[in-house]
Amino acid sequence: MTTYTLRKGNPASTRTDAVVIGVATTDKGLTVAPGGEPVASAYGRKFAPMLTAMGFGGKAGEVLRVPTGGTISAATLVVVGLGKEPDLSGVRRAAGVAARNLANAASVTLALPTPDAEHVRAVAEGFIAGGYRFAGRKQSAPTEDGLAEAIVLCDAARRGEVKEAFAAAQTIEGVASTARDWVNTPPNELNPVTFAEAIDEFTGDAKVKGLSAHVVTDEELRELGCGGILGVGQGSATRPRLVRLTWAPERPVARIALVGKGITYDSGGLTIKPGSSMTTMKTDMAGAAAVVAAVRAIAELGLPVAVDGYAALAENMPSGTAMRPGDVLTIHGGTTVEITNTDAEGRLVLADAISLAAETEPDAIIEISTLTGACVVALGDRVAGVFGDEDQVALVEQAADAAGELVWPMPIPEHIADNVRHDSKVADLLQHNWVRWGASSYAAAFLTQFRGEVPFVHLDIAGPSWNGGSGWGSTPAGGTGFGVRTLVEYAARLAQSAD
Ligand code: BES
Ligand code: ZN
Ligand code: ZN
Repeated sequence: MTTYTLRKGNPASTRTDAVVIGVATTDKGLTVAPGGEPVASAYGRKFAPMLTAMGFGGKAGEVLRVPTGGTISAATLVVVGLGKEPDLSGVRRAAGVAARNLANAASVTLALPTPDAEHVRAVAEGFIAGGYRFAGRKQSAPTEDGLAEAIVLCDAARRGEVKEAFAAAQTIEGVASTARDWVNTPPNELNPVTFAEAIDEFTGDAKVKGLSAHVVTDEELRELGCGGILGVGQGSATRPRLVRLTWAPERPVARIALVGKGITYDSGGLTIKPGSSMTTMKTDMAGAAAVVAAVRAIAELGLPVAVDGYAALAENMPSGTAMRPGDVLTIHGGTTVEITNTDAEGRLVLADAISLAAETEPDAIIEISTLTGACVVALGDRVAGVFGDEDQVALVEQAADAAGELVWPMPIPEHIADNVRHDSKVADLLQHNWVRWGASSYAAAFLTQFRGEVPFVHLDIAGPSWNGGSGWGSTPAGGTGFGVRTLVEYAARLAQSAD
C-alpha cells in the first residue's frame, strides 16, 4: 500500500529516496519544468550539460535515473522527458513513466508542473495508473509493492479545489486498478458467477449510502425474457448473470445508464476463434469492469447524477448446449434475432441490457464494450471508437479529452442499420452479415435497435482496454482500465452543466 500526500515543499531538501522532476526541450536546449527548479539550482549550471552528456534528450517518454551523491537530499533523481510542449496529457504521461522507473525506492517526491488542480490530478492519476502492476500467479512473484509513500509537491496544496482534485484522482485510479485486476484475472477464476460476486462485494465495500448492487440470476433473467444473455451463456458450464448497480444521490440533476459487456471468456462459441485470437479473450469483460468501477467512483465522489449500471456477464463457449448459427433468440422486450455467427456475442448480451436500461428512460445511455476487432483495425489499439447521437458523442469526446483517454468518432450509416433490420428472412434483426467491411458500424447499428428513444453512445474499446506490450506513459501493461476516467468525467460534467 502506498500513502499519497499533497504538500508544498522543496524537492531539493525533501527526505524521500527518490525525487522526480520534468525536463522539456526548447530551441535553446533542455529546460527544467516548473516544480523542479530547486533541484536544477542545487546542481548549478552543469545540470543541463550533465543530462545531455548522459544521453538524455528530454523527449516525451524518456527517463533518466541519476545517483545524486548528496547534491540533493534524495539519493536518486528521476528525470522524465516532457517533450516540446508539456501539456496536461504530457504531464500525466511523464508521471506514469516515473512510476515505472523508481528503482525500488520506498518513498518518492514528485516535483512535476502543478500550477492548478487539473495538473495535480493529472500527476496523481498518471502516477497511480502508470505504476499499476498485476500481482499475477507466479510462485516467484515479488510480495508487496515496495513503494510506501508518494508525495506530490504543489505550491497551491492548501487550496480546496486542489485538495479535492488530488483526492478524486486517488478515488478514480483506485477503482480503475480494480477494473485492471479483473481484466488481468485468469478466466478460470473469473467467470460470470464469481465476477458477479466480486462486483457485489466491491460495490458494498464502498459503504456509500445510495449505492447498491443487485445480482440478477439466470432464473430471473429467464423471467425477464433476457434471451440474449441466456443464449450466449447457454454453452458454458457457468450460468450467466446480470448485475444492476444503482447510485441514487439525494438531489440528482440528471439520470444516466451505463452498460458494459462482460464476457468473461470469448472462445467464439461454435463459430470458434482461431487459437491465436483466443489467447487474450479473458479481457472481453473490460467494458463491464469499467462500468462497475465508474459507478463506484461517481458515488464515492458524491456526484449529483443518478446512475443505473448494467454489467451483462456470460461466458461464450462451444458445447452441446451452445447456441448455434441459425438459432433465433428473443431479446428482452420481444425483438427476435437470427444468429449467424456465435462470435458476435457481445451485441446479444448488450441488447438485453440496453433494452432494460431504455425502459427506465434515462437522459442518456452510455454503453462500453470490447465489441469488434474491426475497430482495432480502423483506429489502432490505443484509440476507442465512439458511435451514436452526435451531441452525446461530442460530450463523450470532450470528457475523454479531459480525462486523457483517446477516442475517435465513427459513423452508423443508415444503409447499415437497414441491413440489420431487413436482412433476416426469419427474425426481426440479423445479428451479423458476414460482410467484412464496416463490421464495427454494423455492430453499433445493431445496438441502437434497443435504445428506444433514449440518447445513446457506444464506445468500442476492443483496442485500448488491453496493452499486450510493456507500459507506456500512464498506461500499464495488461488491463488498462480504459474508460473509467472518461465515464466519471462525463458524469462530473453533467453535474456541472446543470449547476
Ligand atoms: N470480443 C470480440 C472482439 C475483440 C476482438 C475484442 C479483438 C478484443 C480484441 C468480439 O466478440 C468478436 O469476436 N467480434 C468479432 C465480430 C465479428 C464476428 C463481426 C470480430 O471482431 O471478429
Ligand atoms: Zn466474439
Ligand atoms: Zn466478444
